[in-house]
Amino acid sequence: MQKLFLIVSLSFLIFSCKQNTVQKPQQHLVSDTAMVVSANRLASKTGIDILKQGGNAVDAMVATNFVLSVVYPRAGNIGGGGLMIIRTPDGKATALDYRETAPLKAHKDLYLDESGQVIEGLSRNGGLAVGVPGTVAGLYAAWQKYGHIKDWSKLVMPAVELAEKGFAISESEAHRLNKYKDDFLKWNPDNKTFIKDHWLKGDILKQPALAKTLRMIAGKGPEAFYEGPVAQAIVDKVTKSGGIITLEDLKKYKAKFRNPIVVPYKDYTVISMPPPSSGGVALGQLLKIVSHYPVKKWGFHTYKTTHLMVEAEKRVYADRAEYLGDSDFYPVPVDTLLDDAYLEHRMADFDPLKATPSDRIFAGEFELHKESFETTHISVVDKNRMAVSCTTTLNSNYGSKVIVDGYGFFLNNEMDDFSAKPGVPNQFGLIGAEANAIAPQKRMLSSMTPTIVTKDGQLFMVLGTPGGSTIITSVFQTILNVIDFDMNMYDAVQAKRFHHQFLPDYIMYEKKTFDKAVMDSLKQAGHKLKQVKYMGIVKAILVKDGKLEGAGDSRNKDDDVEGY
Ligand code: GLY
Repeated sequence: MQKLFLIVSLSFLIFSCKQNTVQKPQQHLVSDTAMVVSANRLASKTGIDILKQGGNAVDAMVATNFVLSVVYPRAGNIGGGGLMIIRTPDGKATALDYRETAPLKAHKDLYLDESGQVIEGLSRNGGLAVGVPGTVAGLYAAWQKYGHIKDWSKLVMPAVELAEKGFAISESEAHRLNKYKDDFLKWNPDNKTFIKDHWLKGDILKQPALAKTLRMIAGKGPEAFYEGPVAQAIVDKVTKSGGIITLEDLKKYKAKFRNPIVVPYKDYTVISMPPPSSGGVALGQLLKIVSHYPVKKWGFHTYKTTHLMVEAEKRVYADRAEYLGDSDFYPVPVDTLLDDAYLEHRMADFDPLKATPSDRIFAGEFELHKESFETTHISVVDKNRMAVSCTTTLNSNYGSKVIVDGYGFFLNNEMDDFSAKPGVPNQFGLIGAEANAIAPQKRMLSSMTPTIVTKDGQLFMVLGTPGGSTIITSVFQTILNVIDFDMNMYDAVQAKRFHHQFLPDYIMYEKKTFDKAVMDSLKQAGHKLKQVKYMGIVKAILVKDGKLEGAGDSRNKDDDVEGY
């Protein structure tokens, strides 16, 4: 009897330990056949399971996304939106835009007071910050057009199970859940799912309400989200929290397939996201500009290379502020912005020895908002070399912090990506103008830059990152690191980063990016510098010598590469 008791106790102990173990993610892997890189091990593993069950890259991406909505709730989502590039094995590429839209009742001056001033925080917190979510429609549209697995529910059920049974949270998730506790309680006083005295690594997070919603989506697809009780609950909660989304907004939401931005860079072709993202245009402009200079010879993080990249970035982000927005609402001059003669003209006043002050390009100076930049990215390559680069977001950490009562998911605060007023910065310090003004059903401008690079018609690289305004420059640097500075994928992702976005007029850089001599030369040329904690969390896959090299980013300890 005593023995039996001991065995039962031991088994219980082993089971509990196993349940509470957060498995260590791997951030570098070389494999032969297929690969998934995401911000969480359970999510990447689910993607690989789907591939092994005969799914293709799109199926894997969909399942990985749904799992992220459970295990990475700060950015993985069903209440947000995203953008993706899909490249099929025959070399055809398409862009899928499932960005949120402004509600029908929205208008240009939505966030202004009677005297025309922006009301601080209104576009970032609570119901009025919420854009009409696009994720469920987008993932379904991708699967409908490209998926191989016939049964949609198979792609959603892994997420249902994790939400139901719970999972052991990582240290970084525990940290964030603790950090935002007051915000969760403010907007959701009756919801205790994410509330604990103090979350610790290994604590089990169960989300029964989210499991119920995901089960409905598994059964009925987007209809379960955009109509019926979930839609009603979204409207009720948004309204209660000061917002204006209606049932009509949800019913009208559509994901859109678009032509990607395709730009040559040396022997490579870069395929990236068109408006409503600024990512593809800005990345294309940056690559085209630097292609005229011998950056490979100048070297990595030298004064000459850095100064050139920064001066290009200032001009490109100035263009972004003026000309980029949802092209369904504003005639974004994509061809002109990417035109060689235009870019040559743009760099005509480039002085190799002197920084051009941003107020000679545009006026104004301000500080970045303190909110951290949360979005997430998934890169997938399957056995046929079909590839998906998918970036998805709630905007800030846990979006607006508003949770849909009874259905357990966070709603985005993507409305802050619109320009609330010309020249007034959003949380990323980005400014905008008419092109990105608010209008009913318009998509807010994004910096998300899901990207695929090919060489000689073959898949070469799949990459993307979170990071708000620094997304574009993180992708830009990662591409240069591989192509010009001969780094492998892992080193290219870990390499230190810097960023200039025209305003504020300083170079943001990570600790140890530049040696002292380079810092001195940059200052001497007139650059201001500001050290930041980190920028970008790139997830990338490189195809080389018939193998796949995957890299997560050590800037997020949870990033994980899985492959076979
Ligand atoms: N919400 C960040 C972006 O789309 O750029």
